[in-house]
Amino acid sequence: MSAREDELTLRRLLPEPTGPTAPEEAYTGLRLADLAPAERPWTVANMVSSLDGKATLHGRTRELSSEMDRRIFHLLRTQCDAVLVGSHTIRDEGYGRLIKNDELRALRVADGLAPDPVCVTISRGLDLAVEAPLFQDERSHVIVATASDAEPPAVPARLEILRLPATEIGPAAVLRRVRDEHGIRSVLCEGGPTMLGLLVAEGALDELFLCIAPLLIGGPSELGLLRGAVPAAPSRTTLVAAFEHESALFLRQRLTAAPA
Ligand SMILES: NC(=O)c1ccc[n+]([C@@H]2O[C@H](COP(=O)([O-])OP(=O)(O)OC[C@H]3O[C@@H](n4cnc5c(N)ncnc54)[C@H](OP(=O)(O)O)[C@@H]3O)[C@@H](O)[C@H]2O)c1
Repeated sequence: MSAREDELTLRRLLPEPTGPTAPEEAYTGLRLADLAPAERPWTVANMVSSLDGKATLHGRTRELSSEMDRRIFHLLRTQCDAVLVGSHTIRDEGYGRLIKNDELRALRVADGLAPDPVCVTISRGLDLAVEAPLFQDERSHVIVATASDAEPPAVPARLEILRLPATEIGPAAVLRRVRDEHGIRSVLCEGGPTMLGLLVAEGALDELFLCIAPLLIGGPSELGLLRGAVPAAPSRTTLVAAFEHESALFLRQRLTAAPA
């Protein structure tokens, strides 16, 4: 942890307000796998949006995010067996090795997890941004769910292909398969809005960690938090934790009627 990161503190609003809280205290030891039902992983998402629900600014998350948001983003990666991320986000955000340093790997091990999580993505046509550092790093382990029969590209990363019929492919089916075949019991979805939209529409999301940045963006060109898939009905959530830092809110919302 850098000296600057060491000084970052949150103000807890819920449960009962407390004094300054270190992000490590709030976002480690979550034991998400203990919440998993037998047939699928416990699945949480972590996203950032503006006050008006925009998930991008100039097409990226960088200007929405903050030092605290990035710290929490990396801490949440220490809490899951796998990170589920859309193939477009891997490309647009230039994804690399998921755990960026040994301090974060040590936090994972302290919580009983492997030093590095698996990355899970979907690419129906096996059209991968292989130039992304994630695929160029031999320490990455990426499971790609696809409806294609094509052979995967040769990349330094360890690539595993999960083939599903075009009529079945989607995050819910993929999550059941990785639970069954890889023993994955906790998943952190990092978006983008299309992947999150599919997760919600398929009833496969259990919790949403959301940073609401103190910004109003407006305009038609930026993406909203959920995109594409149309849920049958709105999903209701219950607020289980809330923190504040420099006017940004950090919420933990549990979907009230999470699927069994
Ligand atoms: N605010 C935030 O927290 C946040 C987080 C992440 C990303 N972002 C931003 O969001 C943008 C990227 O998000 P995005 O929504 O464009 O893409 P995305 O969610 O990153 O990628 C879309 C994913 O959904 C899959 N998919 C689409 N339709 C499907 C279907 N019918 N069945 C199964 N899989 C399907 C795609 O697979 P195919 O390849 O087969 O289409 C792909 O893996 C970037 O600008 C990024 O900066 C924001």
